[in-house]
Parts: sequence; C-alpha cells; structure tokens
Amino acid sequence: MSVLRLTDISKRFGAIQALNGISLSIEPGEVIGLMGDNGAGKSTLVKIIAGNFRPTHGKMSVADREVEFHRPIEARENGVEIVYQDLALCDNLTAAANVFLGREKYRWIGPIRILDHAAMYKHAGGLFRELKSETRPRDLVKQMSGGQRQAVAIARTMLSEAKLVLMDEPTAAISVRQVAEVLTLIRHLRERGVAVVLISHRMPDVFAVADRIVVLRRGTKVADKAVSKSSPEEVTGLITGAIEVA
Ligand SMILES: Nc1ncnc2c1ncn2[C@@H]1O[C@H](COP(=O)(O)OP(=O)(O)OP(=O)(O)O)[C@@H](O)[C@H]1O
Ligand SMILES: [Mg+2]
Repeated sequence: MSVLRLTDISKRFGAIQALNGISLSIEPGEVIGLMGDNGAGKSTLVKIIAGNFRPTHGKMSVADREVEFHRPIEARENGVEIVYQDLALCDNLTAAANVFLGREKYRWIGPIRILDHAAMYKHAGGLFRELKSETRPRDLVKQMSGGQRQAVAIARTMLSEAKLVLMDEPTAAISVRQVAEVLTLIRHLRERGVAVVLISHRMPDVFAVADRIVVLRRGTKVADKAVSKSSPEEVTGLITGAIEVA
C-alpha cells in the first residue's frame, strides 16, 4: 500500500504551467530526493501534497484512499507533514513550546485550565531522544544551531504520527556538521517507517540519504529511479536538460 499516490497532477498559475501531468507513488519508509532547477516546480508539488495549493488537474490518494486537501490541516489529519524551508519556528519560545505550538497540552486545577509544561517537556524530550538529537526541550530556539532547529521542526511532525514528511531545502543554509545531523534525522524517520520527500539542490545530500530520485524539469517529471541506478552526473544532465529523460 502506497503512502501517497499522485496521478497526472498539473498546476497552472495564470499563464504559467508550473506542473505538467506528474504521477508518483511513495512507499512507507522510502526517502525520495526531489531535484530540479529553480522554478522547476518542486515547492509547488510538495505544497499540493501538503494542502497549500489545489492542483488544477489530477488525483491524489493517501493509503489507497482518494483525497482532496483544501487546507494544510486536512493533509496533516491524513498523516502528511511539511517542514518549510524557513522552518517557521518561534525564536522566543523553548524547543518544547515550538514542538507543541498550536497543539499544547493542558491540565486542570479545579476549574482552571493551565498549560502542562512538565508534560510537554517530557514528551518533547522523548521525541528528541527518539531522533537521537542533542536538542534539549527547555532550550530557547533563538540560541539553537540550524541542525537543532531542524530537529525541533522534525519533532513537530512526529507528534501526529506522520506517515509522510515533506522537507523543502532543509540543508540549504546550515553548516556541514549540521547537514550530517539532518541526514541522520531523516534516516531515523525512515527507520520508523515514515516516508520522506527531500527537496534539495545539494547532490551529495540526496545521494547520501535518498532511496529514489525524482527529477522535475520545467514542471515535467523527467526521471524517477533508484539512487543506485543513477549518478550525480546523470542527475545534473537531467536537471539542465543535457539528458532528455532517464
Ligand atoms: N503562488 C504562485 N503564484 C504564481 N506563480 C507561482 C507561484 N508559486 C510558484 N509559481 C511559479 O511556478 C513555477 C514553479 O515554482 P516552484 O516554486 O515550484 O519552483 P521550485 O522548483 O521550488 O524552485 P526553487 O528551486 O527556486 O525553489 C515557477 O515558474 C514559479 O514562478
Ligand atoms: Mg522551491
């Protein structure tokens, strides 16, 4: 059973055909490297999967059930989580508060409802341990490294038992050591059976962690193959158009 299946998805923004007849299926625990030049349609595709955009045409199913997402919350309810490039974290809050943002835990003292910080620290601490991350629940996000921020954003996706995590350029703006941490986080998600779509311009990251590579060129899928059957040279050719399809 596929986690996600896209059939003939197209998206038009006015005169721009951003995506053209994309079909794709993703299995549990599979890591897909989604590559393509600027403007190729990568972010548009993951935003459709995450319920930010409606496709102009095409069908989408989650766990073999056809779905239509009108809002991101509907994707989330179906186990689809997205980590945006800017991460959208609150700098002045702790790691735990960011993990639970909008999904806070409460407890009651008589008739009064208060935030249950202890429970959130404990739960967030467990998620970071599961991700083998050094991130501490009580640390403020503004004092964190890029890699630790990624761990917070990824822990957020684990709260809801995500089946598919979409990551838009998670390693674009962080140091070499932090990139290694993020790749490790992705491997831990895979071990838990979570499927990951990783958008990246960084060929070494994709070849280090992905099982399959999908290449988009000007809105069209030009390759969908096992990493072991491709090479960085071939992918570069597919991205630029030097190689037509593979
Ligand atoms: N909200 C929008 N309104 C109009 N056009 C859009 C919108 N979002 C994307 N586009 C257009 O759709 C095309 C695909 O854009 P998209 O952001 O998906 O590319 P991308 O592959 O993510 O590129 P990058 O690597 O630069 O992030 C581009 O031509 C872009 O200008
Ligand atoms: Mg993009």
